[in-house]
Amino acid sequence: MFVRFILLVVCLVSFLRSFHVSSCDHNCADKPVLTPSRLVVKYGDPASVNCSVCQNCHPSIFGWEIPVGTQEKHGTLISWSVDQLTEWGVSPMCYYIAEGDHQCCSDLPVTVYQPPDNVSISFKNHNGSMSEGRQYTLQCSVKNTAPVENLRVTFYSGQRKLDQIKSNSKGEKPVSETLELDFSPRKEDDGSQLWCEAELHLGDDGPQPPPVVKSQHITATVHYKPQLNGLQSLDPITVTEGEPLQLDCSAVGNPEPSYIWSSPSSNSSSSVESVFMIGSVTPADEGQYTCTVYNYVGTTSVEFNVTVTVLTTEKTPTTVTTPTTVTYPTTVTNPTTVTNPTTVTNSTTVMQPTMTTPTERNRSSSSVLIHWFIWCFTLLFSVLV
Ligand SMILES: *[C@@H]1O[C@H](CO)[C@@H](O)[C@H](O)[C@H]1NC(C)=O
Ligand SMILES: *[C@@H]1O[C@H](CO)[C@@H](O)[C@H](O)[C@H]1NC(C)=O
Ligand SMILES: *[C@@H]1O[C@H](CO)[C@@H](O)[C@H](O)[C@H]1NC(C)=O
Ligand SMILES: *[C@@H]1O[C@H](CO)[C@@H](O)[C@H](O)[C@H]1NC(C)=O
Ligand SMILES: *[C@@H]1O[C@H](CO)[C@@H](O)[C@H](O)[C@H]1NC(C)=O
Ligand SMILES: *[C@@H]1O[C@H](CO)[C@@H](O)[C@H](O)[C@H]1NC(C)=O
Ligand SMILES: *[C@@H]1O[C@H](CO)[C@@H](O)[C@H](O)[C@H]1NC(C)=O
Repeated sequence: MFVRFILLVVCLVSFLRSFHVSSCDHNCADKPVLTPSRLVVKYGDPASVNCSVCQNCHPSIFGWEIPVGTQEKHGTLISWSVDQLTEWGVSPMCYYIAEGDHQCCSDLPVTVYQPPDNVSISFKNHNGSMSEGRQYTLQCSVKNTAPVENLRVTFYSGQRKLDQIKSNSKGEKPVSETLELDFSPRKEDDGSQLWCEAELHLGDDGPQPPPVVKSQHITATVHYKPQLNGLQSLDPITVTEGEPLQLDCSAVGNPEPSYIWSSPSSNSSSSVESVFMIGSVTPADEGQYTCTVYNYVGTTSVEFNVTVTVLTTEKTPTTVTTPTTVTYPTTVTNPTTVTNPTTVTNSTTVMQPTMTTPTERNRSSSSVLIHWFIWCFTLLFSVLV
């Protein structure tokens, strides 16, 4: 009798199960209310959800349909909980059957996630330094993460975000995925750190902030053609005969650039430095100077047109100011500072040191003089009296 009863119950329960799965109404008006309505849980973490079935319809049978965890009833509230959720792809459903065989159920969307075990960045089919303008493939390998459709991988060069890639794979169980990015390095990327990070976008119901795992860094070496440091002036350069000439075409590049200058007075290269110098120009130095800066990546060249002004009269210093503008202070005691007026460009600079000498620099000597004067006067007075 008892055994029969047990069998009947088992039979009924399994019948109801298959019955629910196949023909349960998911769109009924009085659906079971799930709290929370969506579950995002890390693999191995605890989870619990309450289901409130219709309170007015006196359900005869109600519960959760789920293979793991425990259920507990409090009136028309039935809670499901699990200490460690270690199932992938669970889809719990809360159901009830009310009078007149009215069946109703609600599905609980569950996302079981697992942050990546390891994230690492590398180049695909490449080794060593890169060249500006060429294209390379960066790859970010993400180990053992789920769900892969929520995976976003972001590539960085230093703090500069290169791009974000989304996985196209699907699946509930953890997978390893390698996402690729075409990368055309710029010269600014030379010496920067390349890295990627994997993030699981789990939405508002997921953990805040979302799980992120960063890769190791690899240092980028970018070879690029020489870039001139300064803006090249297209104006012709005019220099007076006898004066020095200095032309600068210093540039940056990787590898370090080399320089070749061609000048009008010699046909071959006359300098291999970034700065071309002539101590004293002659009329033969007039003409076009070309600086060629190069490394194996490329070449940049600059032209300088130099005009030499030939002096016809005797050489007179241009910086001389006529001595008439120099006011000779009456208090000057040391005339040697004024004897060379050719170097004087501003008369006030001459006046200042001489004016200050007796008044400010040495007050003690003038007070000594006064002292002596008073002393002598006193002596003279005493002699006279
Ligand atoms: C479920 O209901 C019980 C009793 O009302 C409450 O203590 C618990 O916090 C609820 N759980 C959730 C996940 O809402
Ligand atoms: C991650 O993977 C890389 C490359 O496979 C390996 O060198 C590194 O040690 C790993 N890191 C961890 C924390 O397992
Ligand atoms: C990098 O280059 C070295 C030397 O050419 C070679 O031995 C090594 O296998 C290369 N590594 C990769 C990952 O291509
Ligand atoms: C320099 O002079 C040459 C020949 O006179 C001329 O063709 C060129 O345009 C000039 N370059 C500059 C930068 O002035
Ligand atoms: C420069 O070239 C010209 C003609 O090609 C030649 O006559 C002259 O000797 C050369 N000068 C030098 C310094 O090489
Ligand atoms: C002379 O010096 C004064 C004060 O230092 C300055 O204001 C003035 O511009 C200078 N004049 C010249 C021609 O340098
Ligand atoms: C002032 O003159 C005295 C005596 O000639 C000398 O010892 C002293 O160093 C001078 N002081 C200054 C500031 O020049």
